[in-house]
Amino acid sequence: MTILDTGADSAIALVERHAAHNYSPLPVVAASAEGAWITDVDGRRYLDCLAAYSAVNFGHRHPEITATAHAQLDTLTLVSRAFHADNLGPFCAALARLCGKDMVLPMNSGAEAVESALKVARKWGADVKGVPSGQANIIVADNNFHGRTISIVSFSSDPAARDGFGPFTPGFRSVPFGHAAALARAIDDNTVAVLLEPIQGEAGIVVPPDTYLPTVRALCTEHNVLLIADEIQSGLARTGYTFACDRWGVVPDVYLLGKALGGGVVPLSAVVADRDILGVLHPGEHGSTFGGNPLAAAIGTTVVDLLERGEFQARSAELGEHLHRRLRGLIGEGVVAVRGLGLWAGVDVDPALGTGKDISLRLARRGVLVKDTHGSTLRFAPPLVVTEQEIDWAIDQFAAALREACA
Ligand SMILES: Cc1ncc(COP(=O)(O)O)c(C=O)c1O
Repeated sequence: MTILDTGADSAIALVERHAAHNYSPLPVVAASAEGAWITDVDGRRYLDCLAAYSAVNFGHRHPEITATAHAQLDTLTLVSRAFHADNLGPFCAALARLCGKDMVLPMNSGAEAVESALKVARKWGADVKGVPSGQANIIVADNNFHGRTISIVSFSSDPAARDGFGPFTPGFRSVPFGHAAALARAIDDNTVAVLLEPIQGEAGIVVPPDTYLPTVRALCTEHNVLLIADEIQSGLARTGYTFACDRWGVVPDVYLLGKALGGGVVPLSAVVADRDILGVLHPGEHGSTFGGNPLAAAIGTTVVDLLERGEFQARSAELGEHLHRRLRGLIGEGVVAVRGLGLWAGVDVDPALGTGKDISLRLARRGVLVKDTHGSTLRFAPPLVVTEQEIDWAIDQFAAALREACA
């Protein structure tokens, strides 16, 4: 008997007993998925309004992505970077072209891409900018989320991410998000980079003022500081643009990509920049056994191909307006505020109606899967293949769940 044959309760009990308790999932046990829909072990269907934190932007099991994966599984999956694989170069060339840059450093998880960029920025500071060894500083924003490694949580402002995990990595300065003047004051001669999410995801889909990113771009250029855009959650069509930075016409020096780059199939992340930046890495100075493996490279190439057609960006822009209009219609009906861009919305629910988790549970019972973030904030981020009718149905369920919570 397989684990899932024993039913949802047993599957959850096994996870509780044998998996580390670093997550607190909703009691939904997925067995299969297609497009924007997930089916659980009891055959119940749910509209996925999380899309694996935007890793499933193109929908579950997108036919072109699964066809690529199947074909690659039958030819070559892993050789490590000790040898060449025939599809790594084409993947890097395609992704670099999409980003308008020269080079790609392929990694696996998002956190690894961020860590890699921090190393690249420090090395660039030492080799190119001439910052004295060990003196570099990197500016980040309060309430950031860039992953879970020791160096990354070293500059988190979330106590749950940090408490008990010290000692921390030095060399970071955190300033309020959205305030260019505060960022300007934090820059000194030893600043090598500014690392930002163009729109803060885990903080609740926080969109900065329109002048913010262009001003930060200008400051970085003026002070010879690298602007690193963490587009791991905001990028690859989620906001209606290929990169959220495009919304403000801003071109960072370094793009960090992950999540949807792996097509919802494999972990694949990347640091993308020009040669004068990524060229600071030499053999032996950085690496990853699985980074850019042939299976990931094949899938990543198909993902770039899908993005180059522009169809997903257009869907996200158009349907995103509809999603935001419908959500704003619930302000005063249990919703306090709605933020976001494209098919990516952060919704603050009146705390009197319960926590975000309470509302997520009510929604799951009604067949809609969302994820709470801090306190009473929910995020809606369906796969970009979702239809307008499905969005309407999900919002109707949300309205009903809010009425239920009021009763
Ligand atoms: C903006 C951002 N950066 C980095 C990460 C870390 O990605 P991963 O979980 O793949 O390490 C995340 C994950 O949510 C993210 O949202």
